[in-house]
Amino acid sequence: MANETQTIKPMTHGTTNGVNGANEILSEYLEKRSDLHERMTKDPSGKSVIEWYDGEASLYDDQFDHANFIYHKDTAKAINDFVKDKNAKILDFAAGSGKIGVLLKGYGFSNMDALDGSVGMLELAEKKGIYKKYIACMVGPEKIPQIEDATYDALSCGGSVAKGHLTYSTIQTMLRTVKPGGYVVFSCAGWNFQFKEFSREKLEACFEDLKKRDLCTFVEERASYHIGEEPGFIFILRRGNAVLNGH
Ligand SMILES: C[S@@+](CC[C@H](N)C(=O)[O-])C[C@H]1O[C@@H](n2cnc3c(N)ncnc32)[C@H](O)[C@@H]1O
Repeated sequence: MANETQTIKPMTHGTTNGVNGANEILSEYLEKRSDLHERMTKDPSGKSVIEWYDGEASLYDDQFDHANFIYHKDTAKAINDFVKDKNAKILDFAAGSGKIGVLLKGYGFSNMDALDGSVGMLELAEKKGIYKKYIACMVGPEKIPQIEDATYDALSCGGSVAKGHLTYSTIQTMLRTVKPGGYVVFSCAGWNFQFKEFSREKLEACFEDLKKRDLCTFVEERASYHIGEEPGFIFILRRGNAVLNGH
């Protein structure tokens, strides 16, 4: 297993989708992504990552749309596969500019809230008019002050369980927002597994702990791609009955 002192394998960036101007947008995107990756690996507090999203929010959608991201489609699809009630109350966790919300709306869901640590990204999401509520909150292992436990029927989280973003300890935070029996679906790029705090072993230990405490059952792991041919994974958990007290 690699550690911080070893060479960090760079994340690949996928390809353009071939539309006019895609090459320029992609080179701008690649430049900005390497800055983001530097922040992800060097600032464990995640603050400089949020500053990056705030600063780049206006460009995010354009760049995203010219890169070959896949995780958001597979995350939304998994929600649609498991959540049968189209009126289900869904929290899009670290929703960013609302890419997953757009897809969920396409599947017929209409009762969604967005949460994100970046106000700039939430403003972008708000322009799309997909979500009912916009919750600005930097998430950690603690309870989210603005959300009562067991509020949601399901939760989606795409592209955000990652180095410098949401750590594995936030999986418990996600679970507590969901009602017993509700689904939590999140993606994780395989790139993260090279870091010792994001190793597969750590993730599996986290799932074991959550299962033992009846916070969730493990439903399924799906092989996916994060971007281009960069491997990614979709994890589907089901909320257990345990109640968490306090923070
Ligand atoms: C790669 S973007 C993904 C956004 C969206 N889910 C999508 O698929 O386009 C990651 C998002 O996570 C948010 N984020 C990162 N760390 C966070 C934290 N600790 N608390 C809340 N949001 C965070 C960022 O602001 C950003 O909007």
